[in-house]
Amino acid sequence: MDWYKAVRPLIFKVDPEVDHHLVANGLKMFNSCPQVLQKMFLTKKRANLQVTVKGVTFDSPIGIAAGFDKKAEFYNSLGALGAGFVEIGSITKHNQPGNKKKRIFRLPEDKAIINRMGLNNLGVEETREHLANSPKHVKIGISVAPGHGLSSSEMVDEMVDDIKEIHSFADYIALNQSCPNQKGVTTLQEVPVAKNLLQKIHNLHIKEPVFCKFGNDITVDKMIEIIQETEGLMDGIILTNTASNPSSTYNDLKSADKNEGGGLSGKPIFAKSLELTTAIHKAFPNLPIMFSGGIFTPEDAQEALQAGASLVQVYTGFIYNGPTLLEQINKHLSEEDVLANLDYSPEIALAPVRDEQDVVVSDIEPEEKVELDANSGASFHEE
Ligand SMILES: Cc1cc2nc3c(=O)[nH]c(=O)nc-3n(C[C@H](O)[C@H](O)[C@H](O)COP(=O)(O)O)c2cc1C
Repeated sequence: MDWYKAVRPLIFKVDPEVDHHLVANGLKMFNSCPQVLQKMFLTKKRANLQVTVKGVTFDSPIGIAAGFDKKAEFYNSLGALGAGFVEIGSITKHNQPGNKKKRIFRLPEDKAIINRMGLNNLGVEETREHLANSPKHVKIGISVAPGHGLSSSEMVDEMVDDIKEIHSFADYIALNQSCPNQKGVTTLQEVPVAKNLLQKIHNLHIKEPVFCKFGNDITVDKMIEIIQETEGLMDGIILTNTASNPSSTYNDLKSADKNEGGGLSGKPIFAKSLELTTAIHKAFPNLPIMFSGGIFTPEDAQEALQAGASLVQVYTGFIYNGPTLLEQINKHLSEEDVLANLDYSPEIALAPVRDEQDVVVSDIEPEEKVELDANSGASFHEE
C-alpha cells in the first residue's frame, strides 16, 4: 500500500475544499522551484512519451484537467509530479466567487465527486499576472468560460475578448462550453452558438490550437452534428466535462451524497467518455481528442489512448490515488511503449493553419436563439 492510500482516510475526513486548499498551498511553494519536487517524488521524463498534437509537443500525454489549478498558482509543481500539461482555469473576464459553500462532495463508494463550484476564479487580469510572474516549465492550456448572467451572444463576445487578452500565455486554449454549474453555459454546445463562437475565435488568427470541451451527457449524434456544422473551426475536442443530473450515470450511485446537485466526475463517467471518444475518433480520425473522465489507473489511461485520445486528463483520480498517480501512469505507458503502437493520422500533429482571411460570422439568428437556460442543467447561483 502506498503512503497516500494509508493517510487517505484522514484526508477524506476533512471538507474537500479545505483539503484542496491545503494541497494547493503545499504545491504553490514549489511552483518556482519544481525541480525540488521532482527530486522528492523521483519523477522523470521519458522520450517515448513525447507526443505532438496540433504543433505542440508535450513531454507526456497525461495532464491535469481544468478546475484543479483554477488560479494558475502551481502548474509547474504539477508538471514536476509528472503532468505533461496543466489546464488552468476555467477563467472568466472578471473574478467570480462561485456558488455558496459547501459545493464539493466526495462519493467514496463510487470513486466519484459531485461539484457545483460555479466557475469561481480570479478573472483574466489576475490570472495573467500569475502566469507572467512564474515562467512555465510545463505545457499550459487555458480554459476560458463565460461570466455569470450573460445572454448567448454576450457569452460569446466576452470569451472571444478574453482569449485575445490571454492566449499568448497558453500552449492551447480550451473552451468550457459544458459547465453544468452556471446558468446558460451549456447553450455554447448548441450549433448556432458554437459556430458563432468558433468563427469569431478564428478571426482572431491566433496560433494556439483551440479545443472545445463538451459535457458527459451529450450524445454521439449531437457531437457529430456540432463537429460537422462548425466546419473544421475547432482544432480538437475534450471529452468530457462532468455529467449533470438527470443522467443514467447517476443511476447506480451508492454514496450518501449521490443526490447533491452539480456535476459528477470520476469512475462512473469513464464508460461514457470512452464511448464518445471511440465514436468520434472513428468518425473524425484527424480530430485530436483529449480524454477526460474517470482516469484512475495506468490501464485506464492506456484504454483512453487506444480508443483514440491523443492526450488524457486526470482530476478525480488524482484526488483518490494521490500525487504519485501521474508518475505511475507515465511509467506504465513508457514500459509498454503504448504511444509507439498507436496508429494515428499524421494530421493530428500538425499546427493549425488559419486562413489570413476572416471567415464570415453567421448570426445567432433570432429564430435560432437558444434561451439562456435551455439545456443548462442546474444553476446554483444565489440571485
Ligand atoms: C472540483 C472540480 C472543479 C472543476 N472545475 C472545472 C472548471 O473550472 N472547468 C472545466 O472545464 N472543468 C472543470 N471540472 C471538470 C474536470 O476538468 C474534468 O473534466 C471532470 O472532472 C472529469 O474528469 P475526472 O473524472 O478525471 O475528474 C472540475 C471538476 C471538479 C471535480
